[in-house]
Amino acid sequence: MSYVDFAEEHVAGVLRLCGAEGWPTFPADPARALRVLTAPGVVTVVALEDGAVVGFAQMLTDGEIQAFLNLVVVAAAARGRGIGTRLVREAFARSGAQRVDLLALEESTGFYHSFAHRTFAGYRVYPGGEPSDA
Ligand SMILES: CC(C)(COP(=O)(O)OP(=O)(O)OC[C@H]1O[C@@H](n2cnc3c(N)ncnc32)[C@H](O)[C@@H]1OP(=O)(O)O)[C@@H](O)C(=O)NCCC(=O)NCCS
Repeated sequence: MSYVDFAEEHVAGVLRLCGAEGWPTFPADPARALRVLTAPGVVTVVALEDGAVVGFAQMLTDGEIQAFLNLVVVAAAARGRGIGTRLVREAFARSGAQRVDLLALEESTGFYHSFAHRTFAGYRVYPGGEPSDA
C-alpha cells in the first residue's frame, strides 16, 4: 500500500470510488473533478494497492490553522484495514493546518469518533438558494 499525492492518472479510480458510493457530483463532470481535486488550497491523497486506487481523501486548507475534510472514501473490499485513518492522517500532515472540521454522514460517525475530536452542530447552507444538484 502506498499513499501518494493525487495526480491526473488517478482520476478514473477516484471517480469509480465515488460512483460506487452513489455520489454523482464528481462523475457527472470528470474535467471539473480533476480541477477541484487539484485546486489551490486542496490536498488530495490517494491510497494505491497494486497500482489501483483503493481510497482517497480530499482536504481544503488555509495552510496554517484550519482544514476541512471534504471527502474520504475507501473501496468497500478494503475497509477495516486502517486505510481511511491513514488517508486522513496523510492529508492532514500535508495540509499544514492544526485542526480539521468536517460534516459526517450518520453511518460514518463511528469512524470519526476513532480520532481525537470535539463535536459541533454541522450545517450545509446555500446562501444563493438551493441548487437542484447538490
Ligand atoms: C468511513 C471509511 C472512510 C472508513 O475507512 P476504513 O479504511 O474502513 O477505516 P479504518 O479501517 O481506518 O477504521 C478506523 C476506525 O474507525 C472504525 N470505523 C470505520 N468505519 C466505521 C463505520 N462506518 N462505523 C463505525 N466505525 C467505523 C473502525 O472500526 C476503526 O476502529 P478501530 O481503530 O478501533 O479498529 C469507509 O468506511 C468508507 O469509505 N465509507 C463510505 C464513505 C463514507 O462514508 N465516507 C465518509 C463520509 S464523506
